[in-house]
Order: sequence, then C-alpha cells, then structure tokens
Amino acid sequence: MKIAGTFTAALALAFDLALGASFSNPLKEFNGSDPFIVYSDGFYYLMTTTWTNIQVTRSATLEGLKSGETKVVWEDPDPSRCCNVWAPEVHWLDNKWWIYYASSAEGDTANQRMRVLEGGATPFDPYSYAGQLFDEWAIDLSVIRVADANYFAYSCFRSEIQSLCIAPMNTPASAGTPSLLSQPSEEWEKFGSFAVNEGPVGLYHDGDTYIVYSGSNCWEPEYQLGYLKYDGAGNPLLVSSWAKTGPVFSSANGNYGTGHNGFFTSPDGTETWNVYHATTIQTGSCDGNRYTAAQKVNWNADGSPDFGEAAALGTVLDGPSGEPSS
Ligand SMILES: *[C@@H]1O[C@H](CO)[C@@H](O)[C@H](O)[C@H]1NC(C)=O
Repeated sequence: MKIAGTFTAALALAFDLALGASFSNPLKEFNGSDPFIVYSDGFYYLMTTTWTNIQVTRSATLEGLKSGETKVVWEDPDPSRCCNVWAPEVHWLDNKWWIYYASSAEGDTANQRMRVLEGGATPFDPYSYAGQLFDEWAIDLSVIRVADANYFAYSCFRSEIQSLCIAPMNTPASAGTPSLLSQPSEEWEKFGSFAVNEGPVGLYHDGDTYIVYSGSNCWEPEYQLGYLKYDGAGNPLLVSSWAKTGPVFSSANGNYGTGHNGFFTSPDGTETWNVYHATTIQTGSCDGNRYTAAQKVNWNADGSPDFGEAAALGTVLDGPSGEPSS
C-alpha cells in the first residue's frame, strides 16, 4: 500500500510537471461571493463582494490567487453610495478598464444603484468615479457583446419581480433605454421566498452568444445557473431573440448554491473558465460564508456549453492552459 501510494504520488507529480500548474478550490474561502475574474497581461485579477469597498487580487496562477497581492482600488466616503458594495466587475472598453458595481447608503439595499468607475491601463491602476447608470434599483451589471455592439445586462425589478434587463451601451458610463430580458418563469428559477433572475454574464463560443445568469433566491441551495441563447439575428433588446435553458450548473459534491458566476479565458486564450460561488452550508447561504471556485467549461457536440459538476473542495484540478508551471 505504501509503495503504491508513493508511486501514485510520483506519477501525479510527473503529470503535474507535464501539464503545468494545478490548483484546488476554493480560491477564496470567505467573502468569495459574486466572483469575477479577468486574465490580462500575465495576471488573473479576481474581484468579489466585500460589502465595504472594492478589492482586486492578482496572481500569475489560479492557485496563487489564494495568497495573491490584494489592493483596495475603491472606497467611497459619500454616505449616499458608500455601502452594500455588491458584485464588482472590471471590463476593458475604449482602451481602459472600467469597474461596474452596485451600492447605496448604509443598510438601504432597497435603493441599490449601478455605479461606474473609470480606470487605467491595468485593473490595478487608480480609478475615479464616473457616475450612476439607470435611475432604478439595479445590481449585477455586466457588459455583453451581441452582434458587434455592446449592451449592459443587469438585474432589475419589473412587475415587482426580480428580473433581467438589457440596455444599449452609449458610452462605458452611459446607457440607452433599458428593456426586459428575462423573468423567472421556470421551476428552477423560483426556489425560496421569491423568484429571482440575477448575475447575468456573457459567454461566447464559435459565433454563438449566451447570457448565463443565476436563478432562485441566493439564500437557497437551489441557487443555480441557466442561460439565454441569442438567436443570432433578432434585436438583442427583445425577449423573443433569446431562448432559455436551465438549470445547467447546480449544487453537487458538497458545493451548495453554485451561482453568480463569471467567465475568463486561459492564459493561452484556448479555454473558457467558469468562476462561481457556493457554500458548504447545506441549507444555503447568501453572506460572507460563500467561497470562490473555478472550473473549466467544456463544449457539447452541438456547440452548447457543458459546465460539468462542481468538484468537491480540495480536489486537485489541472490549471488553465498556458499557466507558468512553477
Ligand atoms: C466579510 O466581510 C465583511 C465586511 O468586511 C466582514 O464584516 C465579515 O466578517 C466577512 N465575512 C467572513 C465570513 O469573513
């Protein structure tokens, strides 16, 4: 047994060297909620909801994010928008980085608004406040590219139901008129005390465009991912141009409430990776007890995404293709 174990370990190490870096989840154990990662110029940049400010952690490897260099890039002393800082994302538009996040006054989550920060050449550069988007409750905004134009997708209220909205991007800090994109209509989107659609993010493959989003209340273990697929021809602002599929990524192997995800590409640009949050609490959690985890996206024969199952925490996984292997 001992010999076999040593041999297996040696074999695993040899594979490790051949394939490059490996890693295990979680990448961020506490306050790993609503994660977003971009890979740029040799670094992964990770952001999560920390409630009080906006932090960016960077590392050359996924494993390295666990102890990566962390910078507080934004903290707002204005009491009207200081607090409940949720779901920051950083996007590259017009040759600079922009951060989008929701916030409001302390304790006033019923008045969350989307805000924009204008940055510089790297996600670590200084930011300045560039304004508010939309004069309504709005959270979880992401920039989505559809048919060569940019749109903002975010979570909004329509008919008192937490839904997804979409609006044309005029500039990175201004939007056109929003319209309804999706409402929770299927059973998988209705777990918990109220039905929810939130956390939209773009996914692109072989000319197909998807908006992946989270369904059900974030406190439930049934908080999970589904997607809308663009029909390739219609007006992206119309519900009828999108077809809903779900759920596609749900609780598994001790990970509960697998949702609110982002996508990033491997260092060599060949792979798409899913970064999501989950909790070990079987009854679900929507607070700082959510961790950040990442896993590769595979593709089905028909071109649709295959998110697989969330692997048990601690499982050693091959890192993204093209990572430095030291
Ligand atoms: C998450 O961050 C908040 C705000 O900084 C802090 O109060 C809380 O203790 C953190 N939660 C965990 C589980 O670490």
